[in-house]
Amino acid sequence: MENSENTPKKVMLSGIQPSGDLHLGNYLGAIKNWADRANDYDCYYFMADMHTITVRQNPADLRRRTLEQLAQYIACGLDPERNTLFIQSHVHQHAELGWVLNCYAMFGELSRMTQFKDKSARHTENVNGGLFTYPCLMAADILLYEPDYVPVGEDQKQHVELCRNIVQRFNGIYGDVFKMPEPFIPKAGARVMGLSAPDAKMSKSVPEGCVFLMEPPEDIRRKFKRAVTDSDTERCVRYDPENKPGVSNLMTIYSAVTGRSYDEIEAEFEGKGYGAFKPAVGDAVIETLRPIREETQRLLKDRAYLESVYRAGAEKASRVAERTLRKVYKKVGFLAK
Ligand code: TRP
Repeated sequence: MENSENTPKKVMLSGIQPSGDLHLGNYLGAIKNWADRANDYDCYYFMADMHTITVRQNPADLRRRTLEQLAQYIACGLDPERNTLFIQSHVHQHAELGWVLNCYAMFGELSRMTQFKDKSARHTENVNGGLFTYPCLMAADILLYEPDYVPVGEDQKQHVELCRNIVQRFNGIYGDVFKMPEPFIPKAGARVMGLSAPDAKMSKSVPEGCVFLMEPPEDIRRKFKRAVTDSDTERCVRYDPENKPGVSNLMTIYSAVTGRSYDEIEAEFEGKGYGAFKPAVGDAVIETLRPIREETQRLLKDRAYLESVYRAGAEKASRVAERTLRKVYKKVGFLAK
């Protein structure tokens, strides 16, 4: 894809694990800002289904979530004509390059990954090899597409660093094979905390404080009515994350969905207290999510369309990925077919 000056656009790539239902925190913190990126970048987004099986998944749920997430991304504004959307397991080059990179990542550096340490502590009954070597598959995901930027959350920075080490090691032996990727931690996007306990990020593991994109309006309304506000005596709507974390979180949400500033929100609810504010936030969220939910439901009924999107995405991705894989196979000494 080229822009008006005929210079190739920079490439951006990100993977998302279809391991949980998407919620308001995912939307306001990340997905909402993706649609605009296609103006400036050649964007690849893939459902990282191969990564999810490092912890046990229910197969039917994994299939459902993979398709549902694709539909949700499109419903949130990611235009498949302007972004390459695909499913990781449909592009076999990921597994193949992943294997090669396994042989260029060191046991010691893999052992230092904090996510591995956390997950193996949490799933002591299933500390499998995939969980340990997962960063090699992630490095393959990245390097196949030669991206300029890899937008990731803070928790994934260490994996991108490991990928950079692998690049340095591999290129040190074979010459300039891989392009060095840069992690990119997007600043745009609201940090949304849980409604029932505003001291932690909104998370699917605390469902009573989490608003899912597909949730019916009456459930959303109830969750906002029950949202924890602060026990201060003034009970006015004022942005003060330190002393009023509950109300401030609701203000962040309200600001993100209405586009109003904190000053404007304070003025709007002057003298009205929390009782008026909480349902207003709920209603604004409901109206923001309504078209997304309806469009997702419509898309899920149009299975043929979704299939055409992920097939076209896989085909495009596979063409790019194959070029990189061929180069790598040649460099390491595999005989050409
Ligand atoms: N590991 C990422 C996560 O858990 C998902 C992911 C897989 C990814 N492959 C990637 C992100 C490649 C960026 C690039 O969130």
